[in-house]
Amino acid sequence: MNEKLEIALDSRERSLVTGGPLSGLPTLLEGEREVFLVYDRNVEKVAEGIMEACPGIVGMMPVVATEEEKSIDTVLDICGRMMDADLSRDALVLALGGGVTTDLTGFAASVYKRGVRYANIPTTLLSQVDAGIGGKTGVNFESYKNMLGVIRQPVFTYLSSEVLETLPEREFRSGAAELLKTFLIEDRDGGYEKAVRYLSGGDGDLQPLLFAAASVKAGIVSRDPFENGERRKLNLGHTFAHAIEHEARLRGDDITHGEAVAIGIVLAAALADGLGVSRDLAPRLSQDFSSAGLPVRCPYPLSALAEAMGKDKKAASGMVRFVLPERIGSVIVRPLAVSAALKVLSTR
Ligand SMILES: NC(=O)c1ccc[n+]([C@@H]2O[C@H](COP(=O)([O-])OP(=O)(O)OC[C@H]3O[C@@H](n4cnc5c(N)ncnc54)[C@H](O)[C@@H]3O)[C@@H](O)[C@H]2O)c1
Repeated sequence: MNEKLEIALDSRERSLVTGGPLSGLPTLLEGEREVFLVYDRNVEKVAEGIMEACPGIVGMMPVVATEEEKSIDTVLDICGRMMDADLSRDALVLALGGGVTTDLTGFAASVYKRGVRYANIPTTLLSQVDAGIGGKTGVNFESYKNMLGVIRQPVFTYLSSEVLETLPEREFRSGAAELLKTFLIEDRDGGYEKAVRYLSGGDGDLQPLLFAAASVKAGIVSRDPFENGERRKLNLGHTFAHAIEHEARLRGDDITHGEAVAIGIVLAAALADGLGVSRDLAPRLSQDFSSAGLPVRCPYPLSALAEAMGKDKKAASGMVRFVLPERIGSVIVRPLAVSAALKVLSTR
């Protein structure tokens, strides 16, 4: 993967999406004299390799990648360790891990000394195609996901399929939901069908799919970095997914973000079918997602999701902006009252 993408926010803030073998990292870090590495404990071996290969690393901190640890307390711990390492404003903070680690690290770097640069080396499929690109950082607060955070771009995101080798199967499948989501929004290089084929039978190559998905996300973020319009499309399935995750936490159920997104996308397609925005899309996506090893049925009654959906931070004055798929590769955003959406879904 030698291609390079650039996300340009304005003349000041630019973000590079690149990738390849991890052996390419030291070159990218050349000239960096103060690098602080925040890494997920589950990729400690990769972290050790990076520390050996990159002389500029002056400090590090392992984190435990759970939603409970994705908290303001952990951000304060990271900042404390950066202070202990006497990190200056010129430092670069490197995040190595999945979305929990990149979200936490990006947030800590954004507030430390009013903001130092950070970069991501995402180690899950989900974070390679989604969380690690686009500059959304943050933590959970009072049982609500990503309630506190800032949008600030990493100086680079390094995509290396090497790091996925140790990823548990369930985590890989969860990332597959975001991969499919991306191609539902924009079907770059026929990525949707290729991804379904790859995920259901291992047919094809993952590497070009990673980069195609990353380029879709990078393109959208470049055009709308602060989510005033087009970027909202990336929330496809997420209004439902956040509500499902909220309900799962209340019940003590075990469901990953990607699994919730898969169910949420199928619900969004059912809503689109019900509103006449699409035709028979829900059954098709249901079949594709199932064959990709993803859950498609909501385990909770719709009424249980209603309250959390109203409180979603994207809800404005009781209305929620639903992202509705029209067909593969095209979605629209439509504001709708939660009660109206659930009424349509209850008839499906
Ligand atoms: N910032 C954004 O734009 C954005 C977008 C989507 C999701 N997110 C956030 O991302 C988080 C989910 O992130 P995620 O699914 O990438 O993973 P994660 O960080 O939650 O990690 C999942 C599990 O995999 C382990 N792991 C990570 N990489 C591994 C590897 N290579 N080998 C073995 N184990 C590994 C972790 O330790 C953890 O146990 C959520 O908190 C979500 O809110 C953020």
